[in-house]
Amino acid sequence: MNKRTLNDLKDLEGKVVLTRVDFNVPIKKGVVTDANRISAAIPTIKKLVEEKAKIVLFTHLGRINSEEDKKDLTVAPVAKKLAAISGWKVKFVSETRGEKLEEEISKMKNGTILMFENTRFEDVKDGEKVKYESKNDSSLGKYWASLGDVFVNDAFGTAHRAHASNVGIASNIKESAIGLLIEKEVEFLKNAVDNPKRPFVALLGGAKVSDKINVIEALAKKADKVIIGTAMCYTFHLAQGKNIGDSLAEPEKVKLAKKLLKKYKNKLIIAEDSNCAPKFKDVKGKVYDEVPDGMIGMDAGPKTIEIVKKELENAKTVVWNGPFGVSEFNNYKHATEAIAKTMVGLKDATTIIGGGDSAAAAIKMGLADKFSHVSTGGGASMEFLEGKVLPGINAIQKKKK
Ligand code: 3PG
Repeated sequence: MNKRTLNDLKDLEGKVVLTRVDFNVPIKKGVVTDANRISAAIPTIKKLVEEKAKIVLFTHLGRINSEEDKKDLTVAPVAKKLAAISGWKVKFVSETRGEKLEEEISKMKNGTILMFENTRFEDVKDGEKVKYESKNDSSLGKYWASLGDVFVNDAFGTAHRAHASNVGIASNIKESAIGLLIEKEVEFLKNAVDNPKRPFVALLGGAKVSDKINVIEALAKKADKVIIGTAMCYTFHLAQGKNIGDSLAEPEKVKLAKKLLKKYKNKLIIAEDSNCAPKFKDVKGKVYDEVPDGMIGMDAGPKTIEIVKKELENAKTVVWNGPFGVSEFNNYKHATEAIAKTMVGLKDATTIIGGGDSAAAAIKMGLADKFSHVSTGGGASMEFLEGKVLPGINAIQKKKK
């Protein structure tokens, strides 16, 4: 990687280090319910504490479209959670700009942490949707950059967005670097696709072909096998002339599915059988090779699970993105669980979860730490796997020669 990293930065003592993290985490009734993204940023914050920098943290949370949204989407509970899991004191400032924020930053002591309010509060001003953060308003990026000496971007989950709090600041500050989390994410994902130990198997699940079309193509070029799971498989089943009952599919993508099946016929494996329900409900299902009329394919069936296990047997690199069924339903989580268990049981293989719902499933099963890497990025890891340039990383300074 040719970008400056946190380890390249010198003499941070006493400097205000603006540190963008992705703490866009689920919150219920004011309590963070999944702190994985917070834990993942701790190595960077710890290093900055050890270097005696003044650490100004900021993140977005959710999407802000109205003044009303701001009530539920304050990052105060996130600051509290960071303090609870790290043991550090975290000073929360409920502003995104202005005198109070500036004064609090000027009062900071070396090695302390301040976190300011949700960067997307800047998307709505006096009830009007201005999108200063999300559209990378140049004066906002400049203003935030003026609050610090150095910018560290460790928000991998947001790296596919060109916002004021990442690209805007990076373009207006003298020194910038990526943090340790982004460095690790890029290392794993890049190695997996550019330099994989083979056989390299990619598993792609989730609902829509249209969301994953680019990643199917990109991985089909690089992997030895690409296995398409439930519910995406139904668009491919239509292309194969199979009955899919009332299963989720995108008829307008059937032509494309046909093209892919032909172009990558030696690589693409489509989930075969399905565990089906008469309604989209968590009720006991029935397995069919072809989904009958009046039924919905909810999970990949036992035949498919065996195919996946066989393909994974000798795999040396496995990248998994998207559950293979409605994994939040107890009756339809079997294929997703079988994949997770098989992956963590592989010997000498690099096993990577490309974020999002499959990461959530592995975390729920308590298996996350048994994978080589679980990405904190949903959209970001997908775009990375597609081979796209991520603007949040691209805007960071290059390593000095
Ligand atoms: C995510 O959760 O994928 C990131 O935090 C980005 O959030 P966004 O899709 O709302 O930009």
